[in-house]
Amino acid sequence: MEPYVTLQQIDEAAHAVRSRSSYKPRIGLILGSGLNALADSVQKADFIPYADLPHWPRSTVHGHAGRLVIGELEGQSVFVMQGRVHFYEGYSMSQVTLPVRVMIRLGIEMMFVTNAAGGINPNFSPGDVMLITDNLNLIGMAGANPLMGPNIDELGPRFPDMSRAYDPELMDIARKVAAKNGIALREGVYCGLSGPSFESPADLRFLRLAGADAVGMSTVPEVIVARHGGLRTLGFSGISNKANLDGSTITTHDEVIEAGRVITPKLETILRGVLRSL
Ligand code: HPA
Repeated sequence: MEPYVTLQQIDEAAHAVRSRSSYKPRIGLILGSGLNALADSVQKADFIPYADLPHWPRSTVHGHAGRLVIGELEGQSVFVMQGRVHFYEGYSMSQVTLPVRVMIRLGIEMMFVTNAAGGINPNFSPGDVMLITDNLNLIGMAGANPLMGPNIDELGPRFPDMSRAYDPELMDIARKVAAKNGIALREGVYCGLSGPSFESPADLRFLRLAGADAVGMSTVPEVIVARHGGLRTLGFSGISNKANLDGSTITTHDEVIEAGRVITPKLETILRGVLRSL
């Protein structure tokens, strides 16, 4: 397994996408655990199984389909990833984020990302949707940053800025759409860890002190690579469970998938509204 994906590999994957779809999407969407349904609403879609794309990482986790859905949604042409891979599956960070680099090479301008997350903020409940206003890159601080290795200068700079990891203008649009539709949109800091074990109560108390409102196993690497490549980003966490800071409850993957059923319609309303207003 090559740890660092090359520009040539990225371009081979981008070429394969182009040969299977004539759309020129402006917006990429990454749909997380149990939050896949929106991909089924894409109109006049081209479907490309990940298995058909060279170098493309394939998910091994229940609840993650594995295909690209490229078509129209709310008048926009969109590139939807129905399912994503995670670092804990054994892929390198560079492989985990290859799809984002393909988006960059395809000329996509904005990336919207969703995930399932544990709610650390005591005011959050399962079923809530949180607008990600910033992230805590604990996984990167621990040495797993997706930009490690040779910088690909054609994509972005060696030391990219992360002061606006999530686009202020897109966040404002999302707030307005949620308010107009009567959806209580939470806001907060998403902390990215590697997983796959859920956090211990001590982990969670530490994360709360560090300023995290929600915790999950994705998104941060993709957003870093997107920002490196100049994409504007917008992110949402579906709060699937309350983090057990006192050890009184246990978290299960089934609970995460089940909460997706409540979260999906809200997220869909918000994402559709944002797309319509662009
Ligand atoms: N922790 C980490 N990742 C998660 C959780 C959690 O509690 N819920 C859903 N994804």
